[in-house]
Amino acid sequence: MSGPLIVLVGPMGVGKTTVGALLAERLDAGYRDTDADIVAAEGREISDIFFEDGEEHFRELERAAVRSALAEHPGVVALGGGAILDKDTRELLAGLPVVYLSMEANEAVRRTGLGLARPLLAINPRQQWKQLMEERRALYTEVARAVVPTDERAPEVVAEAVIEALGLGPAAVPGADPSATPGKENQA
Ligand code: S3P
Repeated sequence: MSGPLIVLVGPMGVGKTTVGALLAERLDAGYRDTDADIVAAEGREISDIFFEDGEEHFRELERAAVRSALAEHPGVVALGGGAILDKDTRELLAGLPVVYLSMEANEAVRRTGLGLARPLLAINPRQQWKQLMEERRALYTEVARAVVPTDERAPEVVAEAVIEALGLGPAAVPGADPSATPGKENQA
């Protein structure tokens, strides 16, 4: 069974979408984002789903969206920041090439936009972000094959670090010679 090439997890604002899109381009693969899948399927924004139907309902939609994306998508998949709260989702992630994009609280605060479009950070973003991370840090680490810090790093540098951390070279790119062994791509 061929699962996704890369699964990105990590907190809101860490750059999963930007880095995921760069990785997809770099690896000539498709990109899929479970938040975007939910918005498309529901025809409304995540913040509207939270406010109209509550977080629990959103988490149900998210669980189903993650399951579909992991089953169907062979490229790069980025999960919403809270997807790993679900036990079934964590079980699905076991054994997959999951990378946790991490950042420190100061970096999170420095990055603009934290809060406005994100219902969980609507009030007192700094405090809420810290609290969320206390609850989630161990879960991100548990599901991850590699942790890649993003603090003060450009998205291109982060993408390169993800590729390196997973040992993904040209041999892993769809369409590449499947008989190629790691290291062969470096031979002239
Ligand atoms: C959430 C993260 C968001 C989105 C929702 C809840 C969370 O996704 O799924 O607002 O619980 O951390 P991003 O991590 O893509 O911002």
